[in-house]
Amino acid sequence: MKGVILAGGLGTRLYPLTKVTNKHLLPVYNKPMIYYPIQCLINAGITDIQVVTGGNSAGHFLQLLGNGSDFGLKDIQYTYQQGEGGIADALRLAENFVKGDKVCVVLGDNIIEGNIKKAVDEFGRQGKGAKILLKEVHDPERFGVATIRDGKVMKIVEKPKQPESNLAVIGIYLYDAQVFEICKTLKPSARGELEITDVNNWYIDHGQMTYEVLKGWWTDAGTFDSLLRASNMIHDGGANRMDL
Ligand code: G1P
Repeated sequence: MKGVILAGGLGTRLYPLTKVTNKHLLPVYNKPMIYYPIQCLINAGITDIQVVTGGNSAGHFLQLLGNGSDFGLKDIQYTYQQGEGGIADALRLAENFVKGDKVCVVLGDNIIEGNIKKAVDEFGRQGKGAKILLKEVHDPERFGVATIRDGKVMKIVEKPKQPESNLAVIGIYLYDAQVFEICKTLKPSARGELEITDVNNWYIDHGQMTYEVLKGWWTDAGTFDSLLRASNMIHDGGANRMDL
C-alpha cells in the first residue's frame, strides 16, 4: 500500500504564522508538523510515501526531509499542487505515484496519539472500496461528520450546522484505486474546493465503505487553538505511540 501526505494549502487560518512558510513546516512541540503524519504511515508499515505540497516554501520540504533518511526511509517522493483546489484536487496529483495500488491518504495537519496499523492491515484484506477512521469530538461542526446505523456509515456531512452525531471523520483515509476516477467526477463545493467528503460519500452510496473508531486522541493542527492543543498533548504523552 502507498502513503500520500497532503501538505499543500495556504494555511490561512494560521495567518500570519503561514505568511512566509507552509503550515506543515511549523513546529508542533519538538518537531515540524509534517514529521507526525510521516511517522504515522511508517508505524502502519507504509514506507512508499509521496508528499503533495504547494503554496509557500515548497522547496523547504526537500531541505527538511531530503530522502527520508531521518525516518529510515530509502527515499521519499514529492509533487506540487498549483493553486488551492481542495483535498480531493491535491489527491489527484498522486495518481501516477499510486499506480493502481491501494493508498492511505493522511492530511499533513492531522496528528494521532496511537497508530492505525490494525485499520491498515484490515483494509489490506478488504476486497475493494474505502475505509475511514472516526473519533468522538465535542465540536463536530468543524469537521466531516458521520452518521452510523447498524454498524454501517450511512452518510457524511461536511461541517454541518446541526451535526447528527459527534463522530468526526479524521483526516486519514484508506482508498482503493477507484479513488482517482471518483476525483475526476467531482464538482467544486460552495467553498470552491473538491471535497474529500464527496469522495467518501461515493463509496458509501456504492456500499463500499467500512470504518473504525480511533483509539487515543486525534487532533488537527490547522488553527491556533488546535496547534497549541497538539503541542500540549504531545508534550504530555507523545504521539504515534505503538502501545495503544
Ligand atoms: C478536512 C475535511 C473534513 C475532515 C477534516 C479533518 O477539513 O474536509 O471532512 O473532518 O479535514 O481534519 P478542513 O481541514 O478542510 O477544514
